Amino acid sequence: MEKILDIISKEVMEAMKANGYDEKYGKVTLSNRPDLCEYQCNGAMAAAKEYKCAPFLISDKIAQSLAGNRLFASAESVKPGFLNLKINPDYLAAYLQEMESDRERLGCDKCKEPKTIMIDYGGPNVAKPLHVGHLRSAIIGESVKRIGRFMGHHMIGDVHLGDWGLQMGLIITELKERKPDLVYFDDKYEGEYPKEPPFNISELEEIYPTASGKSKEDEAYKEEAMTATYELQHGRKGYGALLNHILEVSVSDLKRNYENLNVSFELWKGESDAQPFIPGMVQKMKDDGFAYISEGALVVDVKEETDAKEVPPCMILKSDGASLYNTTDLATIVWRMQEYHPDKIIYVVDKRQELYFTQVFRCARKTGLVKPETELKFLGFGTMNGKDGKPFKTREGGVMRLEHLVSEINEEMYRKIADNHTVEEAEGRKTAQVVALSAIKYGDLSNQASKDYIFDIERFTSFEGNTGPYILYTIVRIKSILRNYQAEKTMPEQARILPAHSDSEKALMSELSRFNGMMENAFAETAPHKVCAYIYDLANAFNHFYHETNIMKEPDAMVQAGYIRLLELTKRVLELCIDVLGFEAPERM
Ligand code: ARG
Repeated sequence: MEKILDIISKEVMEAMKANGYDEKYGKVTLSNRPDLCEYQCNGAMAAAKEYKCAPFLISDKIAQSLAGNRLFASAESVKPGFLNLKINPDYLAAYLQEMESDRERLGCDKCKEPKTIMIDYGGPNVAKPLHVGHLRSAIIGESVKRIGRFMGHHMIGDVHLGDWGLQMGLIITELKERKPDLVYFDDKYEGEYPKEPPFNISELEEIYPTASGKSKEDEAYKEEAMTATYELQHGRKGYGALLNHILEVSVSDLKRNYENLNVSFELWKGESDAQPFIPGMVQKMKDDGFAYISEGALVVDVKEETDAKEVPPCMILKSDGASLYNTTDLATIVWRMQEYHPDKIIYVVDKRQELYFTQVFRCARKTGLVKPETELKFLGFGTMNGKDGKPFKTREGGVMRLEHLVSEINEEMYRKIADNHTVEEAEGRKTAQVVALSAIKYGDLSNQASKDYIFDIERFTSFEGNTGPYILYTIVRIKSILRNYQAEKTMPEQARILPAHSDSEKALMSELSRFNGMMENAFAETAPHKVCAYIYDLANAFNHFYHETNIMKEPDAMVQAGYIRLLELTKRVLELCIDVLGFEAPERM
């Protein structure tokens, strides 16, 4: 469906043209005085300069032209030259009716040219537990992916595991101390591959911190870990087999963790998958004259004339020939382009890596790893802080593990739900989990991604204010009204959404009509926070209407049925929005 703002703009632009003014002055915006009108046009102010007359002369003329127009209940010219537009309730009702009959998409058309968009998010490091820093990437990335998919794009999420660094060498070294007899440590190991991994996830999770601790104290141990890393990276078979075991054990644990967050990936590739593409890529960069040796290292210049700050060269190989995080990211672009031909790759990574990605993107572009039209986008997110404004920590001051954070919030949510009313423990726990996820995700997504934010459990789990539980509470309230209605009445056949009977109803209808425009915008700006802001306004508009209207006692059956239709539409819009945000609503709470 055409966006309501576009329909209105077109009409006002027509009126501008008809009166001899440039139509560009007819652009309409949402009103910033919703108490006065729903839309406004300020074009007369600018037009007055071009046509050298008083602005209200223009706005008056336009208002007169629009009098009696089917779109507007009123078009009022206000000094010095504003045009206040109230939408015609009949038109608005018809618009919503059409929206409602589009069951699946609620009036939001799919994009005309679907793109293939890869999205790199999650970025967990294998064998290290997930910490809260990984939470933001997972939550934001999942939502960006769902928004894109809803708009009709081919979205491919890749978890991009950190599985190629020193942590691998550390684990191998520690395993060797503990289980020196494992076949994998035999120099001549040639790769028969026993099925059972020689450790489970809890051992693995204990092995890494132990090894990391030892390496800080013991130089020889650290040397050994570095050698193991080098040997792994240079094809030592036994270590390769161990890497596979580590991946197996770690990935199934990661999957479980992400599942609990309602996050999933199409691809479970990692840094290690990029390694086979490095030699060819490096050779080509040399052959094409982009890569040169500087102080022993192989680098590509990426600075540009217009840089305000210096952008250092992108290092491709260290002087000892070892590859780096950059090399892996570049080689990852190589296989992504070869296999999926993406039109765009989005990276959802901590914003402190912005300069790094500037280097990587420029290098990829300059050396022709991507096509000129391929878009590379860095979506950097800010830090999640505790109430003290410092990066989120456990009470003891350690790094907060994601699992612990999630269970802490589940607990808090369960306490609140159990306080509110009597529920069976099992059902209460289940509901608490669903609501807790909304608290975490909405708490994160309602902030613009690039900003730091304070993770305030108290506030995020509240049923009031701009929170996930408030949105869910609103949906649950609607569900309960719908259930009551169904229990008592049968919906008349000709029931449909009717022109608003009150200001609060009209305000709700007006919010609903903005749905498709909002969604397009959230996609275009890669901005899930726009979806949050919208559903907060929508939930507020609904609750206001609900408090002012006695829906269940409405005597006129058609009017009542119209309310119910409106509620159904509100529920569906809210549900669709929380689905793209990556959470869902319970039946009751
Ligand atoms: N593993 C990295 C970390 O924990 C994040 C990876 C981000 N993605 C990328 N393509 N570099 O910091």
